[in-house]
Amino acid sequence: MRRRDVLIGTAGLLAAPLAGALPAPRAWAQPVPTLPRDFLWGASTSAYQIEGAVKEGGRKPSIWDTFSHTPGRIADGTTGDVACDHYHRYPEDIGLLTGAGFEAYRFSIAWPRILPDGTGAVNEAGLDFYDRLVDALLAAGVAPWACPYHWDLPQALQDRGGWTNRESADWFADYVRVVVARLGDRVPNWVMLNEPNVHAIFGHAVGIHAPGLTGFPNYVSAQHHMNLAQGRGLVAARAERAGLNLGTVFSLQPIRPASDSEADRAAAKRFDAIWNRINLDPLFHGRYPEPFAAEFAPLVKDGDMAAIQQPVDLLGVNYYGPSYMKNDPGGVLGGTGYGALPPGMPVTALGWPIDPEGLVEVLGDLRSNYGNPVTYVTENGACYDDPAPVDGVVDDPKRAAFIASHLAAAARAIEAGANLKGYFAWSLLDNFEWAEGEAKRFGMVAVDFETQVRTPKTSYRYLKDVIAQHR
Ligand code: FCB
Repeated sequence: MRRRDVLIGTAGLLAAPLAGALPAPRAWAQPVPTLPRDFLWGASTSAYQIEGAVKEGGRKPSIWDTFSHTPGRIADGTTGDVACDHYHRYPEDIGLLTGAGFEAYRFSIAWPRILPDGTGAVNEAGLDFYDRLVDALLAAGVAPWACPYHWDLPQALQDRGGWTNRESADWFADYVRVVVARLGDRVPNWVMLNEPNVHAIFGHAVGIHAPGLTGFPNYVSAQHHMNLAQGRGLVAARAERAGLNLGTVFSLQPIRPASDSEADRAAAKRFDAIWNRINLDPLFHGRYPEPFAAEFAPLVKDGDMAAIQQPVDLLGVNYYGPSYMKNDPGGVLGGTGYGALPPGMPVTALGWPIDPEGLVEVLGDLRSNYGNPVTYVTENGACYDDPAPVDGVVDDPKRAAFIASHLAAAARAIEAGANLKGYFAWSLLDNFEWAEGEAKRFGMVAVDFETQVRTPKTSYRYLKDVIAQHR
């Protein structure tokens, strides 16, 4: 058995194999990249996307329940009401983790299960669910990585203004205290917020995600209060329990101009500030980036920037691909808009550009400009339209190739000096992909949403081989 460091916190046991035999591994079309021996291999999910059971165990609605039940909001009209029914089927899903040899599992905790009204009375049944999940993970030798917030704000708090209300930073810190008090004895790894930049932009400026707010002022206010919440959450977790491995998760990507024009190049710079620097600069440098510092200034009270600039033990980076931006004077995102991709650029089934080298760039940026923090890729993966299962396997060679090429990029980044310590694939299961609904699939394991039958895909078997070769 390989020795794991204290961050892992488990014995790293190879647990029960999958029920049912997998076909013999074939020679992979893509090479198996070489990563360090102590590299951590994980898979990621989030609560609203997989749990279902939205009315069970005392849970009350989140903003995503409201949003997904609003006609026209979700492309295929589905909701997270049942999703993968993980709330009831988590033992089977843990079997899928161990079946591929994943050593770590990043999941999120549903705030509306723990504090159904957002603040005040704690719902013990909600805590009990995560107790069971964590105990089962530990028994299986999988290290739990908990994220207290993956976009499912209690609706009761949205009714009080949500993240546009400055009090939200304290609501979040109080909630973090509750979950760390209950689970911190067994969960050593905590990442505060999932992608506050994406939540602020798509949920509060563009309005295509919950809570569906629009406009730059809402965006600025939600973004600042989430930054503050992240800082207060880190302080709360540290105060509640010493020795935790604490961090947060940003979506980072290279922002490139859609053309060579000066206007588009300037737009790309502005969007880089909005997408990347708006989280990184406050956390690591205690300031907002130009040219938007002036827009944030009225919201920043004495002591806020120091409260945000907390030390972190790790940074989680979610990487999917770059963006190509154009000048758009009327655009809600600081006068920028999404532009055309370069001709011939490969894309996933969501039209997202595929560029593994972008991961090297993002990690290089952390090295050059942010002190090279200990980093984990906490999400990386791709949406493809998969075929139906044949002989118990869903063949998704494109997803396997996507993962392989990004692991190769991770290896190049480490070679160049990145402080990258592990990789969590997004996602273990096909799930409720936000505004796209259930039709758009990111899983390494297919889920039939009618029957809840899980079928491993080629990408799952590929990663299983990669992990095995690193043991
Ligand atoms: C990320 C989200 C995650 C999932 C992937 C595809 O931005 O964090 O929940 O939707 O995109």
